[in-house]
Amino acid sequence: MLTPETPKMWGGRFEGSLSPDAQAYSFSLQYDARLWKQELHASVAHARMMGITGMLSPHEANRIVDALLEIQAEIEEGAWFPHEEYEDIHTAIEARLYEKIGALAGKLHTGRSRNDLVATEVRMWLRERTTDLARALLELCHQLMHLAEQHKATLMPGLTHQQHAQPVTLGHHLMAHCWALIRDLSRLAQAGNRMNFCPLGAGALSGTTFPIDRELLAAELGFDSPLPNSMDAVSDRDFVAEYLFVSAMLMVHLSRLAQELILWGTPEYGYVELSEEHTTGSSLMPQKKNPDIAELVRGRSALAIGNLTAMLALLKGLPLTYNRDLQDDKPLLFATLDMVIPSVRLMCAMLEKAHWRTERMRAALQGDFSTATELADYLVRKGLPFREAHHIVGRIVRECLQQGIGLENLTLEQLQRHHPRFEQDALEVIDPERAVRARTLLGGTAPESVAHQIEQAKHWLATIEHQLNELLHSNG
Ligand code: ARG
Repeated sequence: MLTPETPKMWGGRFEGSLSPDAQAYSFSLQYDARLWKQELHASVAHARMMGITGMLSPHEANRIVDALLEIQAEIEEGAWFPHEEYEDIHTAIEARLYEKIGALAGKLHTGRSRNDLVATEVRMWLRERTTDLARALLELCHQLMHLAEQHKATLMPGLTHQQHAQPVTLGHHLMAHCWALIRDLSRLAQAGNRMNFCPLGAGALSGTTFPIDRELLAAELGFDSPLPNSMDAVSDRDFVAEYLFVSAMLMVHLSRLAQELILWGTPEYGYVELSEEHTTGSSLMPQKKNPDIAELVRGRSALAIGNLTAMLALLKGLPLTYNRDLQDDKPLLFATLDMVIPSVRLMCAMLEKAHWRTERMRAALQGDFSTATELADYLVRKGLPFREAHHIVGRIVRECLQQGIGLENLTLEQLQRHHPRFEQDALEVIDPERAVRARTLLGGTAPESVAHQIEQAKHWLATIEHQLNELLHSNG
């Protein structure tokens, strides 16, 4: 509650106050309360800087800093927490400061505005979440690499159009997902580095005439440097949109992996059995074991896309500089980050605890014609143009289908009826294992190529970790 001696933020200009409906509509404390630590840190840095540049006496600066640290302890111990009657976290903390040190509290806001404060604090909050998200993503990538290493020689059908196309290894397939996530991690690091600049000192929009040391503030709060333009500093939220894109892309990637786990867990596939830790039963059907967690990851990718879209729409056409519309960036950002971090962690756990039924994957290659390309390539090696070879093998497949057999059931005589260049070794190329082992080129599906890409992935991750480290250090 604003105490009688606490001056209202804009009391001078106004005789009345906001209607209760307008208050309820506009107050943001319910969601920005979670910025309390950033608010306190930014305020401590501001007060110290004011002490150094002479805007406050050393004694005044110390009193403000001590009171702010007391408030931090109160919140940490649960002795006090901002109540809903305050408009936002900035107002709530300032009011508490008044309760503690009286009118001196009013000096803290010199040369600063909630506009530059909020832009600063959201960046600081995001920096912390970047650490959590990066750690979770790194773990997921390592989990995929670990499984890929284990299954670099496990055969399974590779699909295009959901139809059996060519045999691949499970390790190769899992690494395909891993590379997408490595790029997400790289995007996160880049977004983090682009975001890590300090708005403080921008004031409401045009800067201030007080001797605010922006370099000092930026350094104190772990930013790379101050933002160069005060108007941009208070009105830009592209870093929020960028994080929402990185998150949405990541969730879309997770949804593709989740969808495969769901499909692979059906009796029709039977490639994988998810752990009881990540599946649920049915209240009606006793036999059920449902992949709810994977389904929720798949579904929540839709929410992440929605939040990104909402954020872009929020910014579209918004004139400079600060407009209250910008307040609504936070529910979008918070909701997405709250969703994306556990999604990554759960996907990691789901993969770790899953039981892989490799015999089912191998069996799915029986009679599936997925080595038809090998047979065509065989004829090409015998000198036939690929188009002709393709046509001949197409006819062989048709004949097999009519007879209800697979390529592996063909005899040499049958093959030679289609073309005289087929010799004994043609029967060997039909073997899926051989087809996989022959794809040793860079990025191919052969076990040694998979092992090589796992090594490459480790290098990529080390480079990204290095980029991230600087950012993560800024969290102090
Ligand atoms: N709650 C506001 C936000 O999150 C803080 C800035 C308010 N500034 C203002 N001029 N009303 O954007």
